[in-house]
Amino acid sequence: MTDCKNEIINSVLNKTPTREAMKANCTWPGLIKAYKEWLPVNKETPIVTLQEGATPLIELKAIEAIIGNGVKVHAKYDGLNPTGSFKDRGMTLAISKAKEEKCEAVICASTGNTSASAAAYARRAGMRAFVVIPDGYVAQGKLAQALVYGAEVLAIRGNFDRALDIVQEIANKYPVTLVNSVNPFRLHGQKTAAFEIIESLGEAPDWLCIPMGNAGNISAYWMGFNEYFQARKSTKLPQMMGFQARGSAPLVFNKTIKDPKTIATAIRIGNPVNKEKAFIAKEKSNGSFLDVTDEEIVNAYKLLGKEEGIFCEPASAASVAGLLKRKEEIPSNATIVCVLTGNGLKDPDCAIKNNDAAFYSDLDPDINKIANIMGL
Ligand code: F0G
Repeated sequence: MTDCKNEIINSVLNKTPTREAMKANCTWPGLIKAYKEWLPVNKETPIVTLQEGATPLIELKAIEAIIGNGVKVHAKYDGLNPTGSFKDRGMTLAISKAKEEKCEAVICASTGNTSASAAAYARRAGMRAFVVIPDGYVAQGKLAQALVYGAEVLAIRGNFDRALDIVQEIANKYPVTLVNSVNPFRLHGQKTAAFEIIESLGEAPDWLCIPMGNAGNISAYWMGFNEYFQARKSTKLPQMMGFQARGSAPLVFNKTIKDPKTIATAIRIGNPVNKEKAFIAKEKSNGSFLDVTDEEIVNAYKLLGKEEGIFCEPASAASVAGLLKRKEEIPSNATIVCVLTGNGLKDPDCAIKNNDAAFYSDLDPDINKIANIMGL
C-alpha cells in the first residue's frame, strides 16, 4: 500500500497518471504503455493494443471456506482480457514488435486461444494471420473468434504438438513471424500479470496456482515475479504450483505424451516447448507440479460457476482443482492466487454438458404452472 501511495505522490509531481489512477479513471492504455519501462519497447515501437491487462483479482470466498485455516484465495481472472484469455498480454507485444520489424504476416499453432488472440492483434495491425489448429479439438467460441477476426485457418489432422512443429518450420523457411510462446516477446508481455498481482496484494502471494500446457505462462509469471522481487516491489517469491490434466501431463510425469487426452482442450499438449523454463521455475521457487483428473477439473469448473459466479474455461479450472487437491499441504494463513486463464464462454459445449442446473423446457407460458414448478 505504501508503494502505491508513493506512486500516486510521484505521479502528481511528475504529472503522469499512475497505473492505479489509470485503472480508476478507466483510462487504462493497455499493458505496453502501462509497463513500458519493464518491456523491450522503444519510442519507435508501434503499439498495437486492445487495452488488455488490468484484469481483476477476485477473492474466492467459497474456496476459502472449503480450505479454512485462515487461507486467502484469489483468482486472477485473465479471461476478462479483450479476446477472453491471457494470450492478449503476450500478443500485444509480439504483434507490436512484428510490426516494428515491418513483418506482414504472422503464424501460430494453437489449441484455440492463441489463434483468437493472434488473429485479433495481427488484423488490427494490418497483417495476415495464419493459424494452424488440431481439427476437431478447438472449442467453438475460439474457432468463431479466429474466423470473425479474419484469420486464415488451417485445420490439420494431427494434434497441437504436430501443428507447432509445422509452424516452426514454416517460420524458418518463409517471411512469416512465429507468435507462439517460443517468441520471447510473448513471455515479456505475459509477465505483467505477475506485476499486477503484486500491485493488488501489495506483496507476492505464497502460492501461485496455474494450469500448464506449452508452459509459456508459468515461465512468464516466474520472470515477472523475479523482476519485481529484484526491484524490491515484493519481499518474497511465490512457490509455483503448476497443474496439468492427467491424460496430458508431460511435465508432471516428465515424459512426452504421444496422444494427449483431456476435456480441457486448451492444455491438450504432449510436448511443451517451454519445459526447461517451467522446470527451472518449479525448482527455484520450491514449487511443485501435479496432475488433476478431468473429473476434478469439471468439479472445480462447476464450483467456480455456481459458488463464486465465475465462468472460466475447463483448462483454467485446473488451477483451482489442483489447489483443492493440495488442500492438506497449504500453510495456515497463506495467500494464494489461482490463475483463471480463459473465459468460460470460449467453450459453450463443455458448459452445456457439465452443469448441475435445473433446466425445465417446453413449458406452457402459464403463470400458475411456472409458479408451481418454482415451488411457490
Ligand atoms: N489455459 C488456457 C485457457 C490456455 O489456452 C492455455 C494455452 C493454457 C492455459 C496453458 O498455457 O501453454 O502457456 O502453459 N493455450 C495455448 C493456445 C496452447 O494455443 O491457445 P501455456
